[in-house]
Formats: sequence, C-alpha cells, structure tokens
Amino acid sequence: KRKLTVCVIGSGGVGKSSLTLRYINGHFPEFYDPTIEESYITQIEYGFHFHEVEVIDTAGQEEFLLFRDSSMAQGDAFLLVFAIDSVSSWVHLKELRSKIVREKDDDVSIPMVVVGNKRDLEEDRQIPLEDVVEYCQRIKCPLIETSAKTSLNVTESFRMLMEQVEEH
Ligand code: GTP
Ligand code: MG
Repeated sequence: KRKLTVCVIGSGGVGKSSLTLRYINGHFPEFYDPTIEESYITQIEYGFHFHEVEVIDTAGQEEFLLFRDSSMAQGDAFLLVFAIDSVSSWVHLKELRSKIVREKDDDVSIPMVVVGNKRDLEEDRQIPLEDVVEYCQRIKCPLIETSAKTSLNVTESFRMLMEQVEEH
C-alpha cells in the first residue's frame, strides 16, 4: 500500500517546523529558520499496525508558497496549524482549509486536525478558545492546543490525526 502523506500547514512562524521536529526527534529549535520544505519518513501506529508515513513540513512564508501548494496537493491528511497569539494565522487557517476542501473536491473525507500552537503563550492569546471550538464544530474537525516549546500535546496531535485517518 502506498504510504500516507501528512502535511503540516499554516502561516509562517506558527510553529509547523517546531511541532514536526518535536514529534520526529524531540528537538525544539528556539531560533526561527523559515522553511522551504522538509520531509520526514517515520513510522506511526494506526489501524492496529505501524505504517510508514511521510510528514511534510511545509512553507508558511509568502516567497515559498509554490512549494507549499505542491505539497498540499500530495497530502492525504493535514495538521492545520495556527498560533493562539496570531489573529492573521487564524484567518489564514480558515482560508487554507477552504482551499484544501475545494481542491480535493470532497469535504467530508479529508482527515484534518486543527492545531492551536504556542499554548505556552496563553497570556498573549488573541483567539478565544470558544471561537475555535465553534468553528471546529461547524466543520466537524477535531481541535487540539499544543506547545512545541513545552511538548504539550505534540504527540497527541499526530495521534488525533491518525484517528481521523482510521475513520476515513
Ligand atoms: P515557516 O517555516 O516560516 O512557515 O514557520 P514555522 O511555522 O515552521 O515556524 P517555526 O517552527 O520555525 O517557529 C517559528 C518561531 O516560533 C520560532 O522562533 C520557534 O521557536 C517559535 N515557536 C514555535 N512553536 C512554539 C511554541 O509552541 N511556543 C513558543 N513560545 N514559541 C514557539
Ligand atoms: Mg517551518
């Protein structure tokens, strides 16, 4: 069976690389190095077996959006990431989700999880949790808040996505 491709998408600087690196190798990069595109092959358990999964850490910055769009087209499952201290990243997440649904032309069967990252910056929160919950209920998508910095819910976010994969 063809391997599953997981795409980590969202605005520049929301923590896509940090979440991915935390998940893949437990490392948290303190300094910001904008991604063009990175991809990792790993084994993830779902459906009672370990499967080979390719995790694509996509670009968020404008100048690399062509790379992101081509990775998005390959994605089977998506972690949609915003940062709880960034209004623009929240607006952008909703646009990205619409774009995926439009391009895949099938809005129920795409495994997705909404990830509110930088949970450790609770005092700088700009997006009320209620707004995110309301949106996620409307689009029937699970939600999780994470911190790549403290490791909060990082593994859990990938596990939730795999549950979605199993259900689809
Ligand atoms: P692009 O590759 O440009 O799209 O950015 P990105 O989404 O991959 O963001 P990246 O992981 O590079 O993180 C951007 C900055 O945010 C870095 O300085 C990280 O250290 C910081 N950061 C990432 N996750 C967290 C988090 O959970 N909490 C805090 N406080 N900072 C974070
Ligand atoms: Mg990155």
